[in-house]
Amino acid sequence: MPTQNKTQKVGVLIIATNRYNDFVQPLITSADEYLLNGKDVTYFLFTNEDINISTKRNLVLNRINHAPWPWMTLGRYFIFQHFSDQLNDMDYLFYCDADMLFVDNVDDEIISDRVATQHPGYAGKRGTPEKRPESTACVYPNEQMQYFAGGFNGGSTEEYLRMTGVISTNIRKDIENNIIAVWHDESHMNRYFIDNTPTKILDPSYCYPENLEYPNRKLLALDKNHNQIRI
Ligand code: GAL
Ligand code: GAL
Ligand code: MN
Repeated sequence: MPTQNKTQKVGVLIIATNRYNDFVQPLITSADEYLLNGKDVTYFLFTNEDINISTKRNLVLNRINHAPWPWMTLGRYFIFQHFSDQLNDMDYLFYCDADMLFVDNVDDEIISDRVATQHPGYAGKRGTPEKRPESTACVYPNEQMQYFAGGFNGGSTEEYLRMTGVISTNIRKDIENNIIAVWHDESHMNRYFIDNTPTKILDPSYCYPENLEYPNRKLLALDKNHNQIRI
């Protein structure tokens, strides 16, 4: 008997508290239009408010508490770990910052085991890794690297949850040692991708500032006033 090709299930992870909640509906509307139209997509929204989201796709809303900057960004992998039972049912997981907007089709090219996105400021360059040996995110001068953006990443569920576990453990160690890596979760993700080479590297058009020109932008990082939003 011919085996039926099952539509792949993809979980899209979005964390939003306080002012970030305002970004979620436009992001999801844009993802409905442009993101992975051939897949069975479920949005996993982690939020501290009862927000009503309209979407043609599945949506799982989970309550989390807000914590002041930088704990929501630094703590993202703790959240994924805490809710990993829900996520296990997916074939692939992608994390997307809340303050983003899809503006062109993003399809099967992103489907891979470990997916990283080149940082728009440092594409193919060393960027701004953590350099203090006291942090588990430290990258030593003799190590080769290119810098990735924390705003969009993903992979197979197995690989993504493995990364979630390693990074959570490392961030917990840092907290015990009273150190926060220079770019928070992004520093830890960059350390992880040195030790676990991405199987797919997306160019910076998958995380590009709204206010800067770049060819074929697909996912915009929206302009925002950080001082008003990071409360
Ligand atoms: C932002 C991100 C949001 C939320 C916030 C927490 O960078 O876009 O999704 O995680 O950090 O401070
Ligand atoms: C900035 C960006 C930060 C972080 C940093 C790394 O442009 O806003 O989120 O990625 O680069 O140097
Ligand atoms: Mn952002």
